Amino acid sequence: MTGGGELLVRGGTVVTDSWAAPADVLVRDGRIAALIEPGTGPRGLDEVDAAGKLVLPGGVDPHCHVGFTSGSYTTRDGYFQATTAAVFGGTTTIVDFAIPRPGESPAEALERQRAKAGQGVCDSALHACVTDWDETIPEQLRSFVADGVVTVKMFTTYRGETMADEDTILRVMTHLRDVGGMAVIHCESNHIIEDVQHQCAGGGHIGAGDHHRTRPELAEDAAVAGVLAIAESVRAAVYFVHQSTAAAVDQVVRARGRGIRAFTEAVTHHLVLDESKYADAHPERFVCCPPLRSAATVRELGVRLMAGEVTTVGSDHCCYDTAQKLERKDDVRHMPNGLPGVETRMPVMFSEFVVQRGLPAQRFVAMTSANPARLNGLYPRKGSLMPGADADIVVWDPGAVRTVDNTDLHMATDYSPFEGLAVTGAVSTVVVGGRVVVHRGELLDATPRGRHLRASQLWRPEVPAPAAL
Ligand code: URP
Ligand code: ZN
Ligand code: ZN
Ligand code: ZN
Repeated sequence: MTGGGELLVRGGTVVTDSWAAPADVLVRDGRIAALIEPGTGPRGLDEVDAAGKLVLPGGVDPHCHVGFTSGSYTTRDGYFQATTAAVFGGTTTIVDFAIPRPGESPAEALERQRAKAGQGVCDSALHACVTDWDETIPEQLRSFVADGVVTVKMFTTYRGETMADEDTILRVMTHLRDVGGMAVIHCESNHIIEDVQHQCAGGGHIGAGDHHRTRPELAEDAAVAGVLAIAESVRAAVYFVHQSTAAAVDQVVRARGRGIRAFTEAVTHHLVLDESKYADAHPERFVCCPPLRSAATVRELGVRLMAGEVTTVGSDHCCYDTAQKLERKDDVRHMPNGLPGVETRMPVMFSEFVVQRGLPAQRFVAMTSANPARLNGLYPRKGSLMPGADADIVVWDPGAVRTVDNTDLHMATDYSPFEGLAVTGAVSTVVVGGRVVVHRGELLDATPRGRHLRASQLWRPEVPAPAAL
């Protein structure tokens, strides 16, 4: 069944971020109509058989780059491909970034990227982005928030491209505080990185296989300290993207203890892969910023996640292919950074943390769906199965076993960083807006019906639900 009328998802165990129980899900006109006692629903409807499966709110990936241009490189996918890969991996909402290109204003970047949402097979939202301060920025920030884009990205690195200086970060944070938005920050101390890269290059160690040495943990930890100090001084909310070190997460935890609304996003590859990949036959395929860290750091980051200190898990999806990565593998300063991952985020996280380490499935839902929805003003329309929510539903087979093989995936690239990883747990059926879009590995409905989502006007950057379930 692929229609948009009534549908019953029957016989599964519903898992939200706060409870899990057997229940059937009744869908009507693209929304959740009711959660009902198993077997008590109306007869004769189109049905999805969820017996033996988990029934989850569709995943919300808070960190995706789609059609992203950095320097002379543009990622290989557009909205159709990125969202198709997303739904195959159980993600039914992506949050992309509107990053200004040279000469473009933040508002122009937002319009450019927003125009693409309709090409998606699922819905999407955007983070705006500020790189330089000028007198028009306060009004742009006000209109973003009024228009439902409540998160604004800034980078402390990538000088000459997207780096914002500390004055800009402080001013943007202050204005966002006043209009009800939140800064979203990539933290790596640029001067430390440039100096270390200069030293590495002098010693002939600046190729892809040296990447982890060129961007030390210290650079991330120092930048997080600086940005947290700004947030504390101006009493503004702050969300740290792709935190890759335990020390960075610990700083955020301590800041929360002082009453600062600070949040940690971790991304799948930092939680699962380590720097030994830079000794791989294809080190260029793992060049991302921050880089993959030592095995000890990966372990400690996982401990923080298990302890409830990670608010969201994103993919930082960046769909370059091997040819693009290879071009300048001799010098990471000129390479395209980022790894493909929108399709593997949910299966890899489920396998590594729910199956292998005993993370409660509710907390998996919190980090991969409900909390990203909350922090982007999309909850409970997204990230929940409440009556009235959009009927984005994932029927998840918790026992399915497979090995990651890029030829089975749908991302517009020729590799997966997780190639060869044995994964337990997989998508069985995916419903988007009440329509069955994926079933048993087939795309049943490729109609691009994606909508650009606007945050609820009631949204404030509040602390998500407690993680200790
Ligand atoms: O290496 C990465 N993460 N590239 C994408 C841009 C960013 O910094 O998020
Ligand atoms: Zn980043
Ligand atoms: Zn070297
Ligand atoms: Zn990113």
